[in-house]
Amino acid sequence: MPTQHFPTFLLFLFLFLSCYITSTSSSQNEVTDDFVNPIDPKLLNLNKKAKLSHLKVYWHDIMSGENPTSITVVPPPLKLNTTTSFGLINIFDNPLTLGPKMSSKLVGKGQGLYASVSQDELGLLIAMNFAFIEGKYNGSGITILGRNSARDEVRELPIIGGNGVFRFARGYAQARTYSFDIKSGDACVEFNVYVSHY
Ligand SMILES: *[C@@H]1O[C@H](CO)[C@@H](O)[C@H](O)[C@H]1NC(C)=O
Ligand SMILES: *[C@@H]1O[C@H](CO)[C@@H](O)[C@H](O)[C@H]1NC(C)=O
Repeated sequence: MPTQHFPTFLLFLFLFLSCYITSTSSSQNEVTDDFVNPIDPKLLNLNKKAKLSHLKVYWHDIMSGENPTSITVVPPPLKLNTTTSFGLINIFDNPLTLGPKMSSKLVGKGQGLYASVSQDELGLLIAMNFAFIEGKYNGSGITILGRNSARDEVRELPIIGGNGVFRFARGYAQARTYSFDIKSGDACVEFNVYVSHY
């Protein structure tokens, strides 16, 4: 196309756009750290003393029947030693009730996964949220990540955080097997949670 027939305003527009594109792409390479800023802890009520709460719930890992709440998504790949189930992964959406019976009051769900990660014992890595639905705790939750040697009488699991009422949560949970049916694989575990939050 001969340049003398090229309308001048289009030429300016073209030059303007190419300058604009060049400047925006170069600004993406500039180092910027002002997206992280200190703020006053008072703004998040963190100047108050942390509260310590204890809660006790029963976690039902139901693998049998028409409506299992815990499903093996990865079966143990090697059937060499069935006592450890090494390699197994279960995903669960387990009821949390106030008493050990399934009919007792439902206050939330324990949602997450456990994986068999020990070759020497039944040792699980468990990552889950306790998602509460009851009263002022509805919508709030705590996040648990830890090691669960399922055959130990008491297992201690760290609480690594929380949301809602449990923001900035820290603490630990003690898990005790209340009942375990070796045939069906169904288990009921008592959780005593000690959690510090604001
Ligand atoms: C399976 O592993 C456990 C724990 O290490 C061990 O006690 C048991 O003898 C093993 N079983 C077989 C069949 O190898
Ligand atoms: C919990 O909150 C959800 C969403 O706001 C609401 O639909 C539900 O009815 C609440 N549950 C209870 C038990 O209050």
